[in-house]
Amino acid sequence: MLPTRKDFPQDFLFGVATSAYQIEGHSFGGAGPTHWDSFAATPGNVDKADNGAVGCDHYHRLVEDLDLIAGGNFDVYRFSTSWARVLPEGRGAVNQDGLDFYDRLVDGLLERGVKPAATLYHWELPSALADLGGWRNRDIANWFADYTRVIMERIGDRVWSAAPINEPWCVSWLSHFEGHHAPGLRDIRATARAMHHVLLSHGRAIEVMRDLGMSNLGAVCNFEYVEPADNSAETARAVATYDAIYNRFFLGGIFKGEYPQEVLEGLAPHLPTGWQDDFATITQPVDWCGLNYYTRKIIGPADTPWPSLEERPGPLPKTEMGWEIYPDGLEYFLKRTARDFTGDLPLYVTENGMAAPDRLENGAVQDDDRIDYINRHLGAVQRAVQAGVPVKGYYSWSLMDNFEWALGYDKRFGLVHVDFDSLERTPKASYHAFRKALTR
Ligand code: FCB
Repeated sequence: MLPTRKDFPQDFLFGVATSAYQIEGHSFGGAGPTHWDSFAATPGNVDKADNGAVGCDHYHRLVEDLDLIAGGNFDVYRFSTSWARVLPEGRGAVNQDGLDFYDRLVDGLLERGVKPAATLYHWELPSALADLGGWRNRDIANWFADYTRVIMERIGDRVWSAAPINEPWCVSWLSHFEGHHAPGLRDIRATARAMHHVLLSHGRAIEVMRDLGMSNLGAVCNFEYVEPADNSAETARAVATYDAIYNRFFLGGIFKGEYPQEVLEGLAPHLPTGWQDDFATITQPVDWCGLNYYTRKIIGPADTPWPSLEERPGPLPKTEMGWEIYPDGLEYFLKRTARDFTGDLPLYVTENGMAAPDRLENGAVQDDDRIDYINRHLGAVQRAVQAGVPVKGYYSWSLMDNFEWALGYDKRFGLVHVDFDSLERTPKASYHAFRKALTR
């Protein structure tokens, strides 16, 4: 059982989320190559050498998937548009089939009474732009602005909301410092540049969409609660650094026009010259802020160069990702984001969910652990609402099992089960629980 609509404010919206590369099938419909294709083709980067070539075949099964969204009684659907599907070379020639696909997607949602919530970049950078340095190259802000104009000139009149970039931390830190995601770099200078250029690109895209007359524009960041490994001063410093890199850098740039001191300590020498002058663009006003939240980390000091910290194992029950389940962290970030960064601006939980060891038996998946996870996180949302935080919606990650990046297809986050051989969809118990809870 999940809480029902009447347990939330009247205007509270429930949604499901996906992303282009994880579901569409990137080999279909004339999409150009991306850095995720080449990253996945490099041995050792992705579990079982899986990739997004077929995904969930959403490109061909759009109608069935739209029916699933509407059938679950969801109010809003958060999807992303693929840059390389719209502009196969990242710039220049437009793939009309790509534009037509997103047009059908948006119209199909509207016909079913579901609000389209678009994200412009959920990680599959066109290879031609990766060849030019990708997020390390300042020009990406202009390329991204041009792409924003092309796709939004087509669908911007009908989307309900739009956000430029999903999870700037993953785009920059996870992919350029930790090397876990494409382009798989481990380089502090590349990281600093990517972190700054991601925000500059965010600002430019907001400018373009305002210019097109669009409204309800936001930013989507991800957060991880940080728990100190012990009470030492060194640990407190490591925790503050981790928190600043992960949870405060991007909000600081967008909402305050400044970067946290703890990050500048390590990254200032590597940031592009004149970075301070870009805050006028980065702080373009937005209408809402989205929080993606899954877990917490236990952090302690490490005897290494900056950021001089390491992750330690935690004691709480974990999901299939090995992520600790910690709903209090969601309440904490909703409250802290409103208090320290966004004030009265509407907040949305734009992603939350878990990977579980789901088993399809007799045509059903009894994912009670997922229902429990969602329940507990919705409880955290309710506590934030009661405390006066303007939380306006919650999106479940994800509509269906999909390509979970470096972990391939084995980590199942969906409310709907996907058989990756037959591509057959089977709604899980969690989907049915939402359908019931959200009956109007
Ligand atoms: C988020 C990503 C999403 C998915 C979930 C599990 O960081 O935005 O694509 O991979 O994690």
